[in-house]
This record gives sequence, C-alpha cells and structure tokens, in this order.
Amino acid sequence: MATDSRDREPTPGNDGSSRDDEYADHLERSRTVWDRWSDWYGMSERDFEPMREAAIDRLALESGDRVLEIGCGPGVNFERIRTDIGESGELVAVDYSPEMIEKARERIDAHGWENVDVRRADATAVEFEEPFDAALATLSLSVMPDITRAVETVYRSLVPDSTFVVFDVRPFPDGPARVLNPFIWRFLRWYANWNPDDDVVEALEVVFDTSEIVDTYTHGTTYTVVCEKRDAV
Ligand SMILES: C[S@@+](CC[C@H](N)C(=O)[O-])C[C@H]1O[C@@H](n2cnc3c(N)ncnc32)[C@H](O)[C@@H]1O
Repeated sequence: MATDSRDREPTPGNDGSSRDDEYADHLERSRTVWDRWSDWYGMSERDFEPMREAAIDRLALESGDRVLEIGCGPGVNFERIRTDIGESGELVAVDYSPEMIEKARERIDAHGWENVDVRRADATAVEFEEPFDAALATLSLSVMPDITRAVETVYRSLVPDSTFVVFDVRPFPDGPARVLNPFIWRFLRWYANWNPDDDVVEALEVVFDTSEIVDTYTHGTTYTVVCEKRDAV
C-alpha cells in the first residue's frame, strides 16, 4: 500500500529535497487544470476507449494480479482492469487532482468494487509497501512535471519480470505535419498542462530494461509503449 495516508497533501520528492519552483508550479497547474476537466471528461473517455482497451490487452492481466495505475483520472480504466483481475486481484490507482479522485471514488462506490483503491498522490513521489505485478498509465505521463522520476517510481514499484504499458499523446513525430507542432504544443499545454520539456518514450527507454512502441494512431500522435522490467540478476 502507498505510504501516503489516503488524502494527505502529497510530500516532496523521495530524497526529501524541496521541489524547485518549476516543478511545484507545474504540479499546482495540474491540480487546477484536471480539477476543472473532471466535470467534462465524458468525451475523452469515449474517444480514447478503443486505444485504452488495446493498451490494457497488452498487459495480459490474470486473475489475482495486483495492478498499479498512475494518473487514473476519474477511473476510466477501472472496469476493464477489474474484469481482468477478478475479485482476488487488487488495483491501486493514484491521481493528483482531488476532483478526479472524487469522481474515481464515485465510480468505485457505484460498482461496489472492494478491491479497487484510489489515492491522491503525486505519482513522482509516491511509494508503496508492496510491489505490483503490472502497471498502466494512459494519457497521464506526458502531463507530469518530471516524467523520468515518475517512470522510475513505477519501475521501483514493480516485481521483476513484469510489464508497464503506457498509452499517451505527442505532437507529430515526423512528416510535413510537424510544421503544426508549435500550435499543438501550445494547445496541449493549455488544455492538459502537457510537459513539453520531457519525452515519455525516451524516459521509458532509459528507465526500463526493454521498451517498444507497439501501436501508433493518428499519424503517430497517439501511441502505446510496452516496457518490461526483467528478472533481478
Ligand atoms: C488526461 S488525464 C488521464 C486520465 C485517464 N488515465 C485517462 O486515460 O483518461 C491526466 C491525469 O493525470 C493526472 N496527473 C497529472 N499529474 C499527476 C501527478 N504528478 N501525479 C498523479 N497524477 C497526475 C491528472 O490529475 C489527470 O487526472
């Protein structure tokens, strides 16, 4: 379980140092932006559903698995994950936005899921007492203030020989449409508090033992990455 008590104000980084101003500003903007969108999330939930489903397929979850989801928002992935892991599994999901957490808890209560637990926490700093069999992040890593540290948190939290699947969004990776990227950056920054300084794919490659883009959609602007944490040597 996460060492953070359920709704305590998230603490600074794991090393106890204060976040720099930029990090703190980004995190605070995240809270404002995602609290605001929490009431208007239906369209995003519907539009991205097939890609999220395909990403969860890649986890190949089994009954009884213990799963971590970071940046869970209002819990759009819970039902599918809960179906895969069954009643004997466990899903622990974290999100920084109090309003998103509230929506996620409403969803849990409405379904009466007893093995789905949401915590308000900064995914970059949160620690868990027990490791996970698999982890998922959909549309969330790219809006976090320090993507590499968030990925390191996931890596540390997984058992050896486990999988982390990421579905995320980015500007055009190649081709003539790249001319539109400055506008897309600005839009994503405004809409989602997107982090233009870090690269999700690169962070996954650096931190995980293997990492591969397995699916791309809409000219590569949305993509799924499968990462493996290998057996300890
Ligand atoms: C675009 S939403 C994605 C929600 C959901 N995973 C989905 O697929 O629709 C991004 C989420 O990441 C959360 N988030 C942003 N920064 C975070 C952080 N540092 N720690 C935890 N969650 C964070 C936001 O609060 C928001 O709910």
